[in-house]
Amino acid sequence: MSKPKVIVTRKWPAEVEAQLTALYDVQLNENDIPMTADELKQALQSADAVLPTVTDAMTADILNVEGKRAKIIGNFGVGYNNIDISAAKEQGLVVTNTPHVLTDCTADIAILLLLMSARRASEGERLIRNQQWTGWKPTQLLGQKVTGKTLGLIGFGRIAQAMAKKAHHGFGMKILFYAPSQPAQPVIDDLQAVRCDTVEELLSAANFVSLHCPGGEATRHLINEQRLQLMQPSAHLINTARGDVVDSKALVKALTEGWIAGAGLDVFEGEPNIDPGLLALNNVALLPHLGSATEETRTAMGNRVLANIAAFFAGEEPADRVV
Ligand code: DGY
Repeated sequence: MSKPKVIVTRKWPAEVEAQLTALYDVQLNENDIPMTADELKQALQSADAVLPTVTDAMTADILNVEGKRAKIIGNFGVGYNNIDISAAKEQGLVVTNTPHVLTDCTADIAILLLLMSARRASEGERLIRNQQWTGWKPTQLLGQKVTGKTLGLIGFGRIAQAMAKKAHHGFGMKILFYAPSQPAQPVIDDLQAVRCDTVEELLSAANFVSLHCPGGEATRHLINEQRLQLMQPSAHLINTARGDVVDSKALVKALTEGWIAGAGLDVFEGEPNIDPGLLALNNVALLPHLGSATEETRTAMGNRVLANIAAFFAGEEPADRVV
């Protein structure tokens, strides 16, 4: 029997690509140049499985292409707002993602950004790199203490809970959260976490606010001008979720006018393009979407996709089926 044809849209860790090559008739993307909409359509027409990632916008137009051969989209990533899920559903396509394996690394990046923003780490490094540091001063680059402060999490899924654990048990932080569903009681007890009834209540009470909701229309600009105005002037906003959860124009205004002290961002509206207003500011720490970027995690993500498509081709239910 011939091997299923699989198309991978971007370069993946070598170990996973080797396994894909051994198991399937695979088309890799050696040059790592993002595929165009037409190339993605052709991929759906010519392969049994297409394996995209966060940088591939699998729009309704692409998913609705005539003459599809593909039956499964194995997304490399836990977030799947790059895929028009209702179009995929209508087209009878199975979609899978890669949960669990990136939880700790993404929570680590959220903690890193929290510390960078609170302690003005980017500003400090710039001072040294620009050879402008003239020595220690009692009042230089004073930031905010993190230990013992209050962390508010918007969204309280796996990554938020992992961050809360590190913040509470590592830095003695008090935990507030806002989430549509009720977390398990042992999780709340372990973190002594307090639920807020509204986003507004959380924003005004927290010293640090970290975003952990999915991207997409429902959460677009959840953090807007009005809500930023509710935060404390010494507060920091951390975003490792999706860029469009924050209205970047409003954030630039908040950081410029001192409504909040700082922000730490790993994701951006319209990335990889960054709002020039953010680039011009000193009080924002910027990372290029590194949440899951460790060797261990990216390999584990690839292996998770492998397991999902292997189950599908064996006629079984993939563990991480989204639709
Ligand atoms: C995800 O998995 O959703 C990340 O943002 C991409 O690594």
